[in-house]
Amino acid sequence: MRHAWGILARRALALGVLLATGVHAQPAPRLIRAHGRYELEVGGKPYLVLAAQVNNSSNYGAMLPQVWPAMRAIDANTIVMPIAWEQIEPREGHFDFSFLDQFVRAARRHHLHAILLWFGTWKNGGPGYTPDWVKLDNRQFPRVVNRQGRPMPSLSPLAHATLAADRRAFVALMRHVKAIDPQHTVIMVQVENEAGTYGCVRDYSARADRLFDGPVPVRLRRALHLGPGTWRELFGAKAGEFFHAWNIARFVEKVAAAGQAIDPLPMYVNAALRDPLHPGPPVTYESGGPTDDALGVWKAAAPDIGLIGPDIYMPDSARYRRVLQLYHRPDNALFVAETGNAAPYARYLFGALGHQAIGFDPFGIDFTGYTNYPLGAHVVDAATLAPFALEYRLLRPMQSLLARLSFAGRLHAVAEPDDGRAQTLALGRWQANVTYDMPMFGTTARTHRAVPDGGALIAQLGPNEFLVTGVHVRVGFSLAHPRPGEYAQYARVVQGRYADGRWRFMRIWNGDQTDWGLNFTSIPQVLHVHLGTY
Ligand code: DGJ
Repeated sequence: MRHAWGILARRALALGVLLATGVHAQPAPRLIRAHGRYELEVGGKPYLVLAAQVNNSSNYGAMLPQVWPAMRAIDANTIVMPIAWEQIEPREGHFDFSFLDQFVRAARRHHLHAILLWFGTWKNGGPGYTPDWVKLDNRQFPRVVNRQGRPMPSLSPLAHATLAADRRAFVALMRHVKAIDPQHTVIMVQVENEAGTYGCVRDYSARADRLFDGPVPVRLRRALHLGPGTWRELFGAKAGEFFHAWNIARFVEKVAAAGQAIDPLPMYVNAALRDPLHPGPPVTYESGGPTDDALGVWKAAAPDIGLIGPDIYMPDSARYRRVLQLYHRPDNALFVAETGNAAPYARYLFGALGHQAIGFDPFGIDFTGYTNYPLGAHVVDAATLAPFALEYRLLRPMQSLLARLSFAGRLHAVAEPDDGRAQTLALGRWQANVTYDMPMFGTTARTHRAVPDGGALIAQLGPNEFLVTGVHVRVGFSLAHPRPGEYAQYARVVQGRYADGRWRFMRIWNGDQTDWGLNFTSIPQVLHVHLGTY
C-alpha cells in the first residue's frame, strides 16, 4: 500500500546494507491494513506472531540460559524481551547496549524473531525501570500528585524533561537496533509498558489543573467529532481520565515517532485492562492507559502507534471474549500483548485468531523459577507450557499461510467456552458445528474436563474447500440453508501437513475417522476438507 517509490527505496537500502555488511538484509517488518483488516509482514511475507514473553527481570545475560530452553519447550517463533531504561543508560548520556547485542545475536542463533519492550517512564504505571538519576530526582522528573498534593508512584506526563530524557534514550535504542539488525530479527517494539497511573485519576499539579480547566485540544475534538469546550464540559465524569490518557498518549506518541524516524519498525502499546463487563469508576483501574473506554483518545493522540494490545489475565471465557471484541476494531489490529501462562489461557489462541489477531503472547515464559500465580501458573516447566506448545507446534508450520488467510478475511476460529457449549461458524453456503468433550466415536459427551482446553480453526480455501484443524474438539459441517432433499457429505477429507509453505499429502480420512465428525485431539493434525451434496 506504500507508494512504489517507497518500496523501491526500501529495496535499494536493503541492497546497500547487504553489500556493506555481507549480511542478508531483509525487507523491514511492517503492519499493513486493508478493508479494516491487518497483516504483519516479516521478511516480505505474512507473519503470525506465536510469541512467548520472559519474566520482568530476565533481561540480563546471566538469565538467558534459563530462557532459551523455555522458548524451545513452548515452540514460539518470537521471543518478547524487555529492554530497560536503567539498563541502557545507567549514567545520564552514557549508553550500554551490551545486553541487547548479546540477546539479538542469541535470538538469531535460536532461529527466533524478537519483540523488544521499552521499559521507560512507565512500567505498570510506575517509574521502576527508569535509571536512578531519573527516579530519585523528583524535581527534574516530577511525579503525578493526587488531589491532596501527595506524590504518586507514577511520573507526570506533562514534564518536558521527562519526555526529553525518555525520548533521547529510546532514540539511542532504536539507532542501535538499526545498526546491529539489518536482518530484522527485531520485528516490533512496544513503547513503554502498561502506561498509566494507579490510585489517582490524573495529575493534580498546578500546571495540570490549569490545562485541565482549559480547552480540549482541537485534534482530539476533531477525532471524536466534538465542538469546543473544556475537559469537564465535553467529557463530564470521564474528564479526568481522558485528560490523563491524552497527556500520556501524546508523550508516548512523541517517543515512538522519534524512534520510528530512526528505524520504522511497527510500534505498539499494551493495556492494563479494566473489567470489560462491569467496569467500575476510573480509580478502580489504571487511569490514563489505553483501557477500552479510552481507545478513541489514544488513537487520536498517537497515530504512530500501530496497535494497542490488551494484556489479558482474565481466565473466564466471557471476559476474555469481550476483551478480544473490544480491541479488534477496524482502526486497531488485535495483538494479545500479554496473557496468562496457565493452562486455561492456551485455548484462547484460537479465540484471538477468530478475531483476526496478528499474534499471541503468553507471559512469564522462562525457567528462572519465578511464577506470577495467581495471574499465571503455579509452576512454569515444560508440563505447564505443553498446552501452548501443542498449539504452537500445530500452527507454526502454516503460520504465514494463516496470517495471509486472516488478512483475506477467510479465517474463522473459536475457543471452548467455560460451559463447553457447542458453537456454530457461518461459512457462506456451509456452517461448521463445533463441539467439545466428545469421544472420537459416537455422540455421548464425556464428563466435562477440569480445564476447558478446546479450540478449532477453519480457513476457507475455496467455495467448498476448507483447511480444518484444532485441539480437543470435534468439527462437523452442514449446509447453512439446505434446499429440500439436499444433504451435505464429505467429498474428500485429506490429512496432510505443511512444510516450507507447501501442502504434503499424508492420507485420506474416512469411515470411523469421519463418521462422527472430524475429531482433533492432542495430536497435531491438519485436514483439507472438500464438501459436496447428494
Ligand atoms: C502485566 C505487566 O505488563 C507485566 O510486565 C507483568 O508485570 C505482569 N502484569 C504481571 O506478572
